[in-house]
Formats: sequence, structure tokens, C-alpha cells
Amino acid sequence: MNPRHVQSSPTVCVIAGDDAAPEVMRPTMEVLRVLAPDIRFLEAPGGREALEHYGEAFPGETRERIDAADCTLFGASGGPSRPILWYLRWGRETYVNVRPIRWCRGYDSPMLHPERIDYVIVRDNLEGMYPPREGDIAELSALPSSVSWWQAPPVGKEGAYAVRVCTDEQIRRVAVAACEIARSRQASGYPGRVTLGAKYSILPRTDGRFRTLVAETVRSYAGLSYQEFLIDDLARRMIAAPETLDVVVLSNEHGDILADAASGSIGGLGLSPSACYGENYAYFEPVHGSAPDLAGKGIINPTAMMLSGAMMLTYLGYTQQARRLEYAIEQVYLKGLTLTRDQGGVASTMEFVDAIIGHLAESPVSMQ
Ligand code: NAD
Ligand code: IPM
Ligand code: MN
Repeated sequence: MNPRHVQSSPTVCVIAGDDAAPEVMRPTMEVLRVLAPDIRFLEAPGGREALEHYGEAFPGETRERIDAADCTLFGASGGPSRPILWYLRWGRETYVNVRPIRWCRGYDSPMLHPERIDYVIVRDNLEGMYPPREGDIAELSALPSSVSWWQAPPVGKEGAYAVRVCTDEQIRRVAVAACEIARSRQASGYPGRVTLGAKYSILPRTDGRFRTLVAETVRSYAGLSYQEFLIDDLARRMIAAPETLDVVVLSNEHGDILADAASGSIGGLGLSPSACYGENYAYFEPVHGSAPDLAGKGIINPTAMMLSGAMMLTYLGYTQQARRLEYAIEQVYLKGLTLTRDQGGVASTMEFVDAIIGHLAESPVSMQ
């Protein structure tokens, strides 16, 4: 995505989130402050902590800080911060979620050839099954379209349904984002290939529409190639032939699930960053959640949060600083001396962070 050309000294709203999320946010801010001292970080209360101190999980002042900032850095919601996540997605209309999946030497991947894994998941961030639109199955018989369903709506039974929504406008702009990413990767040697995964065989009106419009959009970009697979087969290909993937376009719920699986293939959730872009706003968060099982232990891996911070630096136009951060992380994994437990090491979060800061100080002059 195109960097937002902020004039000078951008403001970033920081919302740490719940459970173990503050344990990755704190060191990430420490590192970002070293790299870009002129960025103004405005911390905003939210989630469990805000609930205890202010009596509400999403105080009005937090919303104001999100709106006033050039972008937001978000940790993760463990439930209480969900209204904030909702606002960052639907309130700010951050319509596309970009999740790079790239193995680096030293990542503890369960794959035999992880060096083949280097692609980007581009996920619809606003539609599909989210936000939840659920109801009682008794309401279904009233839908005119139900007469054409393969099976009539159940009558006299108790149960619930969920509605999936796909608009042409949203599908097209997600597809355009995928094409733009494929084109910019192509300039640095990637094949310029967009892969669509969906269940278009069974859901012709929703996934079928998604397929048609994504295919149409990719074909309008000279120089890009297009391939499509049913979503279940694509899941297999992510494991069996990840080297065939470059930019992968997925619906909201498919992208959610496959991004975790893809993160597993490179070595786990501690490694996968993400960015959510809109026309006028962006926010950055790791793929992982609030890791409640790690809260308070000081052992969570902050790599995914830091790499999300690097995506934010790029968005703000700090490309050199972003590259320096990625390089420092790569060096720490290459040495393999201070890795966290999820990566087979014994280091605490802060021991890992100290190693990153040490490498930042040593990064080549050309990158300073
Ligand atoms: P999770 O991603 O928090 O954790 C899944 C597993 O991965 C856990 O074993 C955890 O310890 C491990 N893990 C996650 N991040 C790690 C890291 N940085 N370093 C090392 N290990 C890490 O998913 P979950 O346990 O299914 O969900 C916990 C909460 O997070 C739920 O409330 C869920 O809704 C929420 N969630 C929020 C977001 C978000 O805010 N964008 C994303 C995913 C899940
Ligand atoms: C993610 C999360 C969210 C999602 C939840 C917390 C709503 O799993 O960002 O991957 O499903 O989008
Ligand atoms: Mn998820």
C-alpha cells in the first residue's frame, strides 16, 4: 500500500490491549522510540485496564485519540478491547488486512523447506461473516430468496443463523489492494501472481461473486497473473507448495483462519505481523491474539508486534527505519542466541528485546 506522506513528526495512537498484549507493546514502543524519536506516541486507555480505571472499556477519550492520530498501533483484544477493534475496522473503515507470511532463517518452522515460504495474505477486513449478523432460524422462511435454496428453511425447529455479506465495492477495493501489492512485489523480483481462494463451488452468489470480481480486477492489470483454488485445496497448497504463492486474496473469515495456519508454517503466531489499511486511516496489529496463557510470565515473543511496527514505519514514510528494524530482528534470529521459548530458546521477552536494541546500534551505516 502507498505510504501516507505525513509532513513531519507524525502522531501514533497506541492501544496496548488485553492480557499479554501490553508485554509486546511496551518493548515495541521502546524500539520504535530509538528508531524514530520524532514520532509522537499517544497512549490511550482501553480494554480490561480501562474498565477497571474508567468504568468503560472504550472511553470517549480513546476514540478521540484514534481519530486525531495519523494511525494506530494496537496490541490485541482478549474480549474487553473488542469495541476498540470494531471501531478501528468498521468505524475507521480499514477495509483491507495485509498479513505477510515470510520465513526468516532461525524461525522455528515445523516445515522441511520453510525457505520456500514468502507470500502475502490480503484479507477482506469488513465483510463476509463479520460483523456478526445473527438471528433465530424462524426468521429465515420470511426471506424471498429462501424459495430457491437447496434445502427449505427449517420449520418448527430451534436454532440460529448467521448472514454473510459481500458488496461489489468492497470486493473490488480488496482486489485492487492485492493487485497493487503484487505489482510492487513484482518490481523486486516476485512473480506478480494473485491467487484467489474461496468456496465458489458451493456458494456461487457470495464466494462466486468474490471469485468473478477478483479475477476481473487482476486481469485488468497487465503483467499480473491469476490463479484460483477452492479454499480447502488452497489450505493444502499452503503446506505442500507454498512457493507457488505470492499474493493470496481471501474473504474475512477464510483469511482469519488461514493466516493463523500460515503463521504456524513459518514457526508460530509470535512471528506474524499485520496491517489494516483504509482510504483515510490505517492501524497495525499482530496476527495473534492476547495470549492469555502467557500473561504476566514475561516470555511472550514480541517479533510479530515489532514487525507490525515496521509496517507502520513504512506507512508513515520511515522506510529506512523500518528496514533497520527488520534487519535487527533477522540478525537476532540468525544468531539464535536469545530466542523466546516459542522459538525453542530460553530468553525472556526483555532479553530478546535487549538483543534487538543491541543490533540496532550495530546496523550498517548505509541503513542508519
Ligand atoms: P492467541 O493468538 O492469543 O494465542 C494462541 C496460541 O498462540 C497460544 O498458545 C499463545 O500462547 C500463542 N501465542 C500467541 N501470540 C504469541 C506470541 N506473541 N508469542 C508466543 N506465543 C504466542 O489466540 P487465542 O488464545 O485463541 O485467543 C485469545 C484471545 O485473543 C481471544 O479473546 C481472541 O478473541 C483474541 N484474539 C484477538 C485478536 C486481535 O485482537 N486482533 C486476534 C486473535 C485473537
Ligand atoms: C484477528 C482476530 C479477530 C478476527 C477477532 C478478535 C475478531 O482473530 O484479527 O485475526 O477474527 O478478525
Ligand atoms: Mn485471527
